[in-house]
Amino acid sequence: MRLNNKTLMPCIAVVGASGMVGRELVALLEKRRFPVSLLLPFASGRARQAIKFRGRSLVVPAVDFQSLTDCDLVFLVSSDAVARRLAPGLARRGVWVIDDSSEFRLDPGVPLIIPEVNAEALSPTKRLIAGPNCTMTGLAVAGWPLHREATVREARIASYQAVSGAGRAALAEFFAQTRRQAANLGFGTDGRAPVGRVPRAIALPKAIAGNVFPQVGRFDADGHSEEELKVAAELRKVWGTPNLRVSVTAVRVPVVRGHALSAWLNLTRPLPVSRARRLLARAPGVELHAGQDYPTPLDTAGCWPVHVGRVRTGVDTRELALWVVSDNLLKGAALNSVQIAEHLLRRGWLKRRSR
Ligand SMILES: NC(=O)c1ccc[n+]([C@@H]2O[C@H](COP(=O)([O-])OP(=O)(O)OC[C@H]3O[C@@H](n4cnc5c(N)ncnc54)[C@H](OP(=O)(O)O)[C@@H]3O)[C@@H](O)[C@H]2O)c1
Repeated sequence: MRLNNKTLMPCIAVVGASGMVGRELVALLEKRRFPVSLLLPFASGRARQAIKFRGRSLVVPAVDFQSLTDCDLVFLVSSDAVARRLAPGLARRGVWVIDDSSEFRLDPGVPLIIPEVNAEALSPTKRLIAGPNCTMTGLAVAGWPLHREATVREARIASYQAVSGAGRAALAEFFAQTRRQAANLGFGTDGRAPVGRVPRAIALPKAIAGNVFPQVGRFDADGHSEEELKVAAELRKVWGTPNLRVSVTAVRVPVVRGHALSAWLNLTRPLPVSRARRLLARAPGVELHAGQDYPTPLDTAGCWPVHVGRVRTGVDTRELALWVVSDNLLKGAALNSVQIAEHLLRRGWLKRRSR
């Protein structure tokens, strides 16, 4: 993975480097010894901020398109609007762009990549690459070996999604509400909020401390939330199964980090649990929990693999039920993007361009 000559190493920018995903991404570039000749972190410029990279403190200025065009790879970990503004122009100029927003994920001309599943969809001519929704990533990775063996025709999913999936502002709101709850301000001692004193929610649709609610994103006219629609559409695209039937209930839970989901996979033929466990045990990017052990967000936060437990038969032998937990900031975003970049590097497509 390491290139010897620094002059051959790519110049890399991270737009959104001060955010939750951005900070993880910069740390991963260092931990995974990604070759970097120059790292340029950018953010909104609204506040003076710095990040650490390889022992140095780097100031994070406002994003500047001209500087990005001089880079070989730009990670966009910012927002849909920023991706819309920057990504197409950069890709046209030959810069590799890996975007974690939802802006381009369903664009037929943009590969949506989870390396363990569909790295072959990468192409030297498609410079703009999308990273997937953090909720479906866990299922896409864990369900893939089962799908290849016995073809999933229907997936029913209930997700239990951490607050960090909604960005920094939501997490700050959660912590503030939790402090109020601990101090018994605005919450009754019996767990009920006294009438009129339910904490105000701004970043999320309802108070999240001491609560769960089945809404992640806005609802459409048919009552599906944005997250539910994204999970279904992106799973179909990544698996290359346009006719896959998917139903999702996306739930926000008072967890800091780590999305959990319960999935029921309806298969075209029976798959014994023992065989499914063997497939999962050797699947890339999966960590299977032994026996009746199961993963939780607390014990998988900061972990790279997707964790799977409670593999069991569903309504009949053509259905498997599983419990999947993955770190939304890592495999759900930053790690997946760095893995994509590692693929580009291995194929010799990402290198220092001559200026
Ligand atoms: N959180 C997750 O679990 C997750 C999972 C998958 C994908 N994603 C996607 O990853 C992206 C980042 O999410 P996040 O959770 O890290 O959000 P976040 O913590 O709220 O951070 C957002 C970042 O974007 C920067 N930013 C905001 N407006 C900008 C502008 N106009 N120009 C340049 N930079 C700007 C912010 O800079 P300032 O510090 O200056 O405000 C900050 O660095 C989003 O597209 C999100 O949908 C997130």
